[in-house]
Amino acid sequence: MKNIFDKCKFGNFDIQSRIIRSGMWESQKSENGILDQAVFNRYENIAKSGVGLINSEFFCIDPRDRFAKYSSNVNYKGFVKDYNEITNIAHKYNVPILGQLAIFWYNDGLNQKVTPNDISFEGIRRFQTDVILAAKKFEFAGFDGIQINMGNNFYLSNFINPYFNQREDKYGGKTFNRMRIVLEIVRVIKKNYDIHVNVKLNANDGRKGGIGFDESMEMCKLLEEYGADSIQLTSRSNTFPTSDGSNPFIDYADKLSGDTNISIILGGRFNDKDNIENVLNTTNIEYISMSKPFVAEPDFLVNWKAGTSSETKCINCKNCYSKKVSTCFVNGTDNV
Ligand SMILES: Cc1cc2nc3c(=O)[nH]c(=O)nc-3n(C[C@H](O)[C@H](O)[C@H](O)COP(=O)(O)O)c2cc1C
Ligand code: SF4
Repeated sequence: MKNIFDKCKFGNFDIQSRIIRSGMWESQKSENGILDQAVFNRYENIAKSGVGLINSEFFCIDPRDRFAKYSSNVNYKGFVKDYNEITNIAHKYNVPILGQLAIFWYNDGLNQKVTPNDISFEGIRRFQTDVILAAKKFEFAGFDGIQINMGNNFYLSNFINPYFNQREDKYGGKTFNRMRIVLEIVRVIKKNYDIHVNVKLNANDGRKGGIGFDESMEMCKLLEEYGADSIQLTSRSNTFPTSDGSNPFIDYADKLSGDTNISIILGGRFNDKDNIENVLNTTNIEYISMSKPFVAEPDFLVNWKAGTSSETKCINCKNCYSKKVSTCFVNGTDNV
């Protein structure tokens, strides 16, 4: 019988529950550009709540990238110092923490929004180098690994997608070729650095001519073969629309968890302890991620563990998501 608070092995990590905090924008800066105290408090509240693993908000590499003003980037002066304080907070409570890298527009030095079809071979090498160097920066800052976001509508989700990628060289065409850009990155990081590599990937693209469940499964197996330690499933739209409000990818995640030997995380719309335990105990799924519930109530896991509540205060109104801040507009919390 699986329990939310089982102590588990996740990749090489020993974690204290099956609940993973998935990334969220939260880089409020104070006036002098250093992280605001509220961000440190938020991490402390989440880390000490009994969470298994924390994923950071996403970082970009170019300050002109699409979401840069809501998030942060690995190349600002002080990144290593600021985030070393954040990772120390997680480690104080024995919680591993991954730094998430997400590039929306890629600037290859010639074009600030170069498309997957137009990027040159040298541009691809530059992209891969940027990601590999970001992984090193994460390591310097004390992160236990990197989460490479190739889901939602980020650059890599387009690059691997036949809907967008019509390249005729070895980075286009069959599944393996479209995945090559990422597989090479994963292999270089795993062979050279001692860090965990997680990849965030859409379970299903939803576009005609895009990536369906079968191809997504093939991609996950390639990631496993090339050394990825874990996979976070997501959806093209972060709102996970379904008629009954449930997660749409349970059957797929069940099959994927059964068919691979790496840790698979399913997230989106989970809010209820009994429902999560039911999913854990009726499928092969081992890990569930949550994001908005931590905005509404950063320490809800304390009450879940004590048995004093089994839901969270998040009503999934999505205001925090659409306003791009980690503040709950219903419960008035800002995680401090
Ligand atoms: C305020 C906010 C910010 C988010 N920022 C990120 C982010 O930086 N990186 C990311 O991969 N997902 C981000 N997400 C998406 C969540 O990680 C998650 O996939 C999505 O909200 C669905 O999960 P949930 O229903 O548990 O919230 C964000 C969500 C919210 C609410
Ligand atoms: S603003 Fe809405 S979606 Fe966001 S945490 Fe609060 S209740 Fe949940």
